[in-house]
Amino acid sequence: MSVHHAFDNAPSADGCWHNLRLAPDLFASDHGVGEDTPACIVVRDGRIDWVGPRQALPALHAGLPRHDGRGMLATPGLVDCHTHLVYGGQRAGEFAMRLAGASYEEVARAGGGIVSSVRATREASEDELFAQAAPRLAQLLDEGVCAIEIKSGYGLALEHERKQLRVARRLGQAFGVTVRTTFLGAHALPPEYAGRSQEYVDLVAGTMLPALAAEGLVDAVDVFCERIAFSLAETEQVFQAAQRLGLPVKLHAEQLSNMEGAALAARYGALSCDHIEHLSETGIQAMRGAGSVAVLLPGAFYALRDTQVPPIAALRAAGVPMAVSTDHNPGTSPCLSLLLMASMACTLFRLTVPEALAGITRHGARALGLQDTHGLIAAGRPAHFVLWPVGQAAELAYWFGSRPGCTIVRQGRVVRRAP
Ligand code: NIG
Ligand code: FE
Repeated sequence: MSVHHAFDNAPSADGCWHNLRLAPDLFASDHGVGEDTPACIVVRDGRIDWVGPRQALPALHAGLPRHDGRGMLATPGLVDCHTHLVYGGQRAGEFAMRLAGASYEEVARAGGGIVSSVRATREASEDELFAQAAPRLAQLLDEGVCAIEIKSGYGLALEHERKQLRVARRLGQAFGVTVRTTFLGAHALPPEYAGRSQEYVDLVAGTMLPALAAEGLVDAVDVFCERIAFSLAETEQVFQAAQRLGLPVKLHAEQLSNMEGAALAARYGALSCDHIEHLSETGIQAMRGAGSVAVLLPGAFYALRDTQVPPIAALRAAGVPMAVSTDHNPGTSPCLSLLLMASMACTLFRLTVPEALAGITRHGARALGLQDTHGLIAAGRPAHFVLWPVGQAAELAYWFGSRPGCTIVRQGRVVRRAP
């Protein structure tokens, strides 16, 4: 029955993809290629062997099986670099409370918020969590996502964090998609530790993280550094544990207030600082120095009816790479369209279209440490690319709320064909 059959039975993408165009700045070729230049992508053994204009196609590729790109526009496979995809239940009731005037912080302090998803996640079995997350993942993949980050953080106890991370790994295998797991044990204080924050952080840094890392379940470590979550000192304690284990860190930073979390994360060489609505100039310069990616999450901004826009112009001026992600989660961003996020990054945050497209490809890959394998169409990389039935690249951010029927090559297989 299931969606992942689609991957198991998907045909090989090997051969010469011709009659396509290449989206600017998202491919690497030795030859000049404009947005309207007829181009080819050659796939061999599941990898990109060559990319460039049709006229420059080496003769040795002439005899390969041919795939007609039908004039479509090719981008790299999309990268959704910040999600909380695995959780139990949903929180539509809280949405109604916020509409009636309660703030996100008030809902959290009243025992709703993250903690209510923790209850539902703890109650669910591993198989139930898989069954709930699978259709969500299928929707993201159907829009061309080829790599996705999935965080824990709704278990907040060793066995339940393990359960979430195991589901994340299983999803990657079942769907044939690159999944990077992030341990977010320090997402919220579980109710049983009320008033004992330090004890919980000791558990996260001293027991949970080392145990889950030893099981191969952790690719990176994240913390929610905020007034309603964890302090700078607590964040640093978790980062130190990550550093001892050789794991990269990232941070939910400056979402609701400026804690100068980004500067701390930069000192630990963070892959990314995420949300960053209240990011300061100090934080920007620290991120620039560390090479951290700024991950913009317009879905959470929108759902919380936030008005504090991240400091886009200053990030741009400092040359900090900006990624754009869904932040899919049941509380603040129950969104399953990365293209919608690209559109909202333009409209709400004033990214340019090329910035938004780099945000959901190249820079998203970098935020996950995947810059050598994802986010760019280039020879030598695994074949992940999407062919879009659009006239120009700007259409990818211009249309919103629709799902362009695209052709998707993921992990060297044709997993979807445009109608
Ligand atoms: O990225 N900011 C903290 N974490 C999530 C929200 C989690 C929730 O409300 O369940 C976020 O927005
Ligand atoms: Fe998040």
